[in-house]
Amino acid sequence: MKKHNFSAGPSILPQEVLKKASEAVVNFNNSDLSLIEISHRSPDFVDVMEKARALVLELLDLNDKGYAALFLQGGASLEFLMCPYNLLKENGKAAYINTGTWSSKSIKEAQLIGNVEEIASSKDKNFNYIPKDYNIPKDIDYLHCTSNNTIYGTQFKKFPITDALLVCDMSSDIFSRKLDFSQFDLIYAGAQKNMGPAGTTLVVVKEAILGKTGRNIPSMLDYQIHISKDSMYNTPAVFPVYVSMLTLQWLKDLGGIAAIEKKNIAKAELLYSEIDNNPFFKGATVKEDRSNMNVTFLLTDNSKKEIFDQMCKDAGINGIKGHRSVGGYRASIYNAMPIESVQVLVDLMQKL
Ligand SMILES: Cc1ncc(COP(=O)(O)O)c(C=O)c1O
Repeated sequence: MKKHNFSAGPSILPQEVLKKASEAVVNFNNSDLSLIEISHRSPDFVDVMEKARALVLELLDLNDKGYAALFLQGGASLEFLMCPYNLLKENGKAAYINTGTWSSKSIKEAQLIGNVEEIASSKDKNFNYIPKDYNIPKDIDYLHCTSNNTIYGTQFKKFPITDALLVCDMSSDIFSRKLDFSQFDLIYAGAQKNMGPAGTTLVVVKEAILGKTGRNIPSMLDYQIHISKDSMYNTPAVFPVYVSMLTLQWLKDLGGIAAIEKKNIAKAELLYSEIDNNPFFKGATVKEDRSNMNVTFLLTDNSKKEIFDQMCKDAGINGIKGHRSVGGYRASIYNAMPIESVQVLVDLMQKL
């Protein structure tokens, strides 16, 4: 049965990427060896790592702008800690915008390292909007935001403007829309949404901002060490990096971020317009801040839940149960999700 995978992460990847990746597990580059049993220092794998890093900078239009791309481990959750370790000066201060669970967790980790000011939050309305009215202090080392809120389904459409360094957790919308990525000094993203399997985390960092905190940083947490070792300070997550490389190549072949953004907008418009026009459903967030990656919605009449859930199951729809802190439904429509699958969901909503 054809499945339509709306999971929030780990989530859908392009079929052709999965096929190539599975082949490489058995026979990588016609070597009669598996990708996961060869040395990460072998020329074939070094080539994969270099290609993946180069594709990141090319797709984000950050070539020759002083950025390095790293594929690290520990998930985006470890970046919550690495970021203050590398950027927050001894006796300095960082500012955070709290737009949900993930930003709250990043704040908690930063507080272990130094002084943190939460300058804005949408907690008062269960994170159903992006705060817009706030002051950014002048005396901060960096400002941290989360571009897309995977759980609540909100997304920054415009980013704060500051003279301080701008740091962004883009775990759930990286490579999905055109942005001036050079407005950020540090971007990080777990792979398991728009890139590959869980197990590697992308970090894109402007090299000139590093080494200025005055603190000793443990090696594995030190971006400068990872950069100096070409993202191979220790054994990298070879399989997740390989799959990420394939997905990035798939995206480039498709026409890059500009091409995928058009598709993503079309999918989001299709689904949101059904949510807005169908009296049985309503959106879970304010309209202007809606995410084009994670579409959250609720039934207006909960007695229809059982029947709608059964209809979805029968149609092969997977992973649309909303997160427990929002309830209802969450359809994650990442880059690899075809519009045809979104249409299947919309058809069911109409049938209901
Ligand atoms: C926006 C965001 N940040 C951080 C995380 C945590 O990522 P990880 O599980 O890779 O640590 C997630 C996970 O879904 C996320 O959506």
